[in-house]
Amino acid sequence: MAGRNAAGGIRFRGSHGISAQFLPPAPPKHFVGRLRELEQLRPNGVTLVSGPAGVGKTALALRWLHDRCSGDQLYLDLTVREPVELRLGRLLRALRLNDVPAEDRVAAFRSIVLKQKITLLLDNASSADQVTPFLPASGTVVVTSRSSLDLGGAEIALDPLTDETGSLAPLLDLSYVELPERQARLYRLCAWHPGTHFDVPEAAAIAGESECDVEDALDDLVEKALLTEVGDTAFGFHDLVRAHARAKRQIG
Ligand SMILES: Nc1ncnc2c1ncn2[C@@H]1O[C@H](COP(=O)(O)OP(=O)(O)O)[C@@H](O)[C@H]1O
Ligand SMILES: [Mg+2]
Repeated sequence: MAGRNAAGGIRFRGSHGISAQFLPPAPPKHFVGRLRELEQLRPNGVTLVSGPAGVGKTALALRWLHDRCSGDQLYLDLTVREPVELRLGRLLRALRLNDVPAEDRVAAFRSIVLKQKITLLLDNASSADQVTPFLPASGTVVVTSRSSLDLGGAEIALDPLTDETGSLAPLLDLSYVELPERQARLYRLCAWHPGTHFDVPEAAAIAGESECDVEDALDDLVEKALLTEVGDTAFGFHDLVRAHARAKRQIG
């Protein structure tokens, strides 16, 4: 059920009306592989998806939630530093529970998640302590982290995607052929940047364009899942995507 709150213009989905800022984003359009991992992820329980930055943790979790979980889902990005009681306060308000005193928020959140059978995705956890306040007594929770946190549940350690099936290049081509020429050029050129990530001024220098134009084009490439945002100000390629971009090599 999708609708619009006449008063606030906030988008709601699901019968319990979780506000849009806490809904999981869409999984990558051209998701490939990870069949074993998608099987390993199980409902009912806590699963940690671990692995280095850019390996595909969030993509896997989003794909699984999208395909295999029914009911309400809630997405929390723990990279954003925020005291836990403030975060819980915002969450509870998003769940239409206003004015819960700070000391009762953990219990209130856990019980509402349990009662409404809400599936949780806690993205980018850096410690177990950061996760604990959000864990209901039972239910489905997926946590992603660069570290192998001990959360008392299952762990799926992700290795980089290999292109064994050769299935990624044709999918990337689908996105690539739809790119306006300026974006396609930027995609090809930035793939030759020697580091793991680059920022707007660097991309502008590589392309010989203004930072302003380049920033818009980089954002479009992120939206099309050809580039990844690294922190607040930088961009990077997934290894296989970089290889694809380099293979296009019509430099100019
Ligand atoms: N299985 C996959 N198929 C297609 N693209 C993927 C896949 N896994 C990751 N990606 C892409 O690779 C990039 C990095 O993945 P992401 O899930 O954000 O990594 P992490 O969360 O581990 O830092 C994103 O652009 C994402 O869309
Ligand atoms: Mg991630």
